[in-house]
Amino acid sequence: MINRVPFVDPKRIYSLLKNELDAAYFEVMSKGDLINRGQLQSFEKNLAEYVGTKYAVGLNSGYDSLHMSLRAAGIGPGDEVIVPAHTFVATCSAVVNVGATPVLVDVSKDFNIDVNKIEEAITQKTKGIIPVHLSGYMADMPRIMVIAKKHNLVVVEDACQSLGSSINGKKAGSWGLTGCWSFYPFKMLGGYGDGGAITTNDPDVALFATRMRYNGEERETGEYHGHGFTCLLDNLQAAFLNVKLKYLPQWIIRRKEIAQKYYAALYHIEDLLLPNYSKPGFDHVYQNYTVRSKQGNVFSEYLKSKDVEVLTQFRKPYYKHQELNLVDRGFPETEALSREVCSLPMNIEITNEEFDYVINSVKNFYGK
Ligand SMILES: Cc1ncc(COP(=O)(O)O)c(C=O)c1O
Repeated sequence: MINRVPFVDPKRIYSLLKNELDAAYFEVMSKGDLINRGQLQSFEKNLAEYVGTKYAVGLNSGYDSLHMSLRAAGIGPGDEVIVPAHTFVATCSAVVNVGATPVLVDVSKDFNIDVNKIEEAITQKTKGIIPVHLSGYMADMPRIMVIAKKHNLVVVEDACQSLGSSINGKKAGSWGLTGCWSFYPFKMLGGYGDGGAITTNDPDVALFATRMRYNGEERETGEYHGHGFTCLLDNLQAAFLNVKLKYLPQWIIRRKEIAQKYYAALYHIEDLLLPNYSKPGFDHVYQNYTVRSKQGNVFSEYLKSKDVEVLTQFRKPYYKHQELNLVDRGFPETEALSREVCSLPMNIEITNEEFDYVINSVKNFYGK
């Protein structure tokens, strides 16, 4: 008997890893190792190794990783930065909060920035571009890197939803000046509170972030190297993330299996567009399984009424929120998909019974 199918269930992951997470907690607490200790350094080393970069620097959140990256790149007032029209608002807010101007570009059918529309948005003032790898599937980085090189743009990857994803084996977060990561609890690698990091191959960027996350201070000398921020990844969170990172490769395999099962069960429903793509070399790790239903809200509300927890990010595109003061240049694909998006439960803790219940609920809606 199904009561409710949660979108994700952190309690189940905790019970799965209880011994290791409890041990990590006791280790940190009994030694009082709270700020910038071995667990943080070890997590940074493991994350950099996993992503394939020389450095990783732990920060407070995904937002902070974007903000820090733009600061490290020297982007500020008078500069323009290209961002996708369909993303979490933090991608854009980081640009606004360093004093630069975001220039929005529409997305394609895969929810990521439409590479064919980037060059028409570039002006004399454009300094950077933030491709977002949404839902576990990467933006077309080979083409974006060519455009960036041609126009001398800094590339900051918003990889917050795509840890482990890759194109031709090269991982998300290893292409641009930085890769930006969020360990918000519901991410594939989620902490137990906010958390984030940047990955980079640039020693100056790594040093800048290492100092600026700690109010600009060089820990060894006490010298301030600029007006910084308080945005260090907690040692306790790093200890938990270190435990979970080991399991990520097997969790990604499980997510891909679930995506295949969704596809096998639902591909024949004409009014439902599924996120199972076949672009050669592009690997999908399915942070989210976001379908497009022609029936939009009627579909998502029906699933909610059946106690299937779904997300509809983002019914109202962020640039339509008046107080954000953004320029809507007309983004037809973003408008269309915003009406139709519905993310079905996608997590490694879902039971077979729950999965079947979701499938049956979708099929019942379509009378199949
Ligand atoms: C695409 C994207 N960018 C940025 C963020 C911001 O991350 P955080 O919530 O850790 O600040 C998120 C996470 O929610 C995200 O999904």
